[in-house]
Amino acid sequence: MAAELIATTATKKVYRDGDKAIKVFNADFPKAEVLNEALITARVEETGGIDVPKVLEVGVFEGKWSITFDFIEGKTLQQLMDENPDKLAEYMEQMVDLHLNILSKHCPLLNKLKDKMSRQILEIDELSDITRYDMRTKLDSMPKHTKLCHGDFNPTNIVVREDGSMCVLDWVHATQGNASADVARTYLLFCLQDQKKADMYMDIFCKKTGTAKKYVQTWLPIVAAAQLSKKRPEEVELLQKWANVCDYQ
Ligand SMILES: Nc1ncnc2c1ncn2[C@@H]1O[C@H](COP(=O)(O)OP(=O)(O)OP(=O)(O)O)[C@@H](O)[C@H]1O
Ligand SMILES: [Mg+2]
Repeated sequence: MAAELIATTATKKVYRDGDKAIKVFNADFPKAEVLNEALITARVEETGGIDVPKVLEVGVFEGKWSITFDFIEGKTLQQLMDENPDKLAEYMEQMVDLHLNILSKHCPLLNKLKDKMSRQILEIDELSDITRYDMRTKLDSMPKHTKLCHGDFNPTNIVVREDGSMCVLDWVHATQGNASADVARTYLLFCLQDQKKADMYMDIFCKKTGTAKKYVQTWLPIVAAAQLSKKRPEEVELLQKWANVCDYQ
């Protein structure tokens, strides 16, 4: 492949080939998950009104499953935040607006966020049976919403073009559910790198939408527990702390 490697993670590599971006998954990566990512992205694309890279092709390259998308020229919002710390407030404001646009959409064929979280909580062995039970009871009692939730909304998944427009990548975790749960997840993802950014995000979201911070915070232990099921070693300590806050509420 005459393509340039642009990103590597534990499970995949991303290449640029002209105007295409190709995600090539490791040979042992489950086929169903690859097809699921392509399907979810296609469903979000069909929802309309959201700037996402189009899925162009699903294929096999040297025995490895791959998904080909439109390549989006630009820098990730993460890069821009790192390069221009003086513009942080402006970027945060734009990121919340982008999130609100996503959350204003409906995509009725996606899985329900509460069902997914309930399954994830069952899978975590870092938490006691009692904590898991309490958490699932709490999850059941939360209101049922059907907003489009990205599921991993963070600055590495946003590409900013030269003209300032923003395109959102990486829809594999998208579901339909409660906006505050999706915001709680972004808050936690920021907490993993910088508490100040996390607080800024929460403040801007709550101010723009008139949402009580306390309401978003009720989602934190549940979202932390669900995120623990992803088993990212660098996240375990902080997420476990958040997840166990549930014990004291
Ligand atoms: N269509 C695209 N256009 C431009 N750059 C892309 C595109 N897809 C991926 N990238 C680049 O590759 C990086 C990783 O891609 P992506 O976020 O889709 O996967 P990932 O983060 O590995 O997935 P996950 O978060 O599920 O582990 C992005 O941060 C971005 O820099
Ligand atoms: Mg990503």
